[in-house]
Amino acid sequence: MDLDELAEGLESMILEDAKKVFSETVIEYAYNPRNVGVINNADGVGKLTGTCGDTVQISIRVENSKITKSMFISDGCGTSIACGSMLTEMIKDKTIEEALMINSNDLLRSLDGLPEEYVHCTVLAVNVLQAAIDDYKKKFT
Ligand code: FES
Repeated sequence: MDLDELAEGLESMILEDAKKVFSETVIEYAYNPRNVGVINNADGVGKLTGTCGDTVQISIRVENSKITKSMFISDGCGTSIACGSMLTEMIKDKTIEEALMINSNDLLRSLDGLPEEYVHCTVLAVNVLQAAIDDYKKKFT
């Protein structure tokens, strides 16, 4: 994702307005995203388009059954960027089994909550992670 795409994803989220609606954690992870990009020759890649029309991709590097690196890209809303940022941080150094146990409520809690109309963004992010892990399992187990 280049800066233009990132700006596009955030364009509807003007900071001052965003502060009225979103937690500080969501704003921090949306405006200073972590782990943006694509891992070359990733061990697993998941990419899904939500019912909202936004697409999120997560790629993972796995060594000794642990996720040592993960990156995401999104063409979607600012919340999807916050979700990708937080989720890729949450799975760092987790085993595959531990990562699979993370559900959308865990992600929602880590972001200190979201307005109801954005809760589906957490579901999309978690489904994409599960798709990336499925891809890894198909290749290596
Ligand atoms: Fe589509 Fe957030 S509105 S992922």
